[in-house]
Amino acid sequence: MEVIKAKTAGFCFGVKRAVDTVYEQVSTCDGPIYTYGPIIHNEEVVKDLESKGVIVLRTEEALDEITKGTVVIRSHGVEKRIYDKLEKKGIRIVDATCPFVKKIHNIVRKESADGKYILIIGNPEHPEVTGIRGWAGSEAAVVQNAEDINKIDFSKKEKICVVSQTTFNYNKFKDLVEIIKKKSYDVSVLNTICNATKERQMEAQSIAESVDAMIVIGDKHSSNTQKLFEICRKACNNTYYIQTLDDLDLNQLGSVETVGITAGASTPNNIIEEVQNNVRIIF
Ligand code: F3S
Repeated sequence: MEVIKAKTAGFCFGVKRAVDTVYEQVSTCDGPIYTYGPIIHNEEVVKDLESKGVIVLRTEEALDEITKGTVVIRSHGVEKRIYDKLEKKGIRIVDATCPFVKKIHNIVRKESADGKYILIIGNPEHPEVTGIRGWAGSEAAVVQNAEDINKIDFSKKEKICVVSQTTFNYNKFKDLVEIIKKKSYDVSVLNTICNATKERQMEAQSIAESVDAMIVIGDKHSSNTQKLFEICRKACNNTYYIQTLDDLDLNQLGSVETVGITAGASTPNNIIEEVQNNVRIIF
């Protein structure tokens, strides 16, 4: 019996770094520790941190009310004005913005100061995109489809700089860039898509293709885990979607010789290991 665990299972680099940062603060710093928004979309982790005294500020109003302590900025990053606000209040900032996201902040800030019109390809509701938008000047817009682009009056926008939300679909990005290029002569495009998701999906698929059963671990509401499950099920009929070890019916797996394991971006390592160890023991 062989168990193959995907190397890319679970947290990506930026999320791991952000979660580790909060735990580090818990053990080293005095005074209230806040995270601006849940540090990760995983209830278990957020609850564990809350049990250690970490308070989640879920709205900007909640942020406005605090008067002291430390605020950890999560991997998605935030608008510049949030830093300004916290600095003005004398609140300590621990910045766990993913360096790949920070890079986009720096790009849009610089290009916008150089007089370019910034186009951010992404979901305008997503906190990462709101954060990026907050580093560009007033001459900027978020677009996620051709319709959004067609609404913009390009006649007064000479130089354009295009960036992307890190998790945006690459093919869609390419198509939208083509449309934008037809609107202006001076368009600089920076592909700021992060490969972590794609690499996780590609590895999951290749493992699923080679095993008798595949286990995908992640929160039922996590869209990237759902996607991972779909990919694996296509490659291996015998694929199971579980949140924790409790959901795994080992009898269901049947008599198999090889089992693959992968996990969504917000699944903590201890849950993955627990599943891995139990599958090994049973078979
Ligand atoms: Fe993760 Fe950072 Fe990429 S948070 S998905 S490594 S942009």
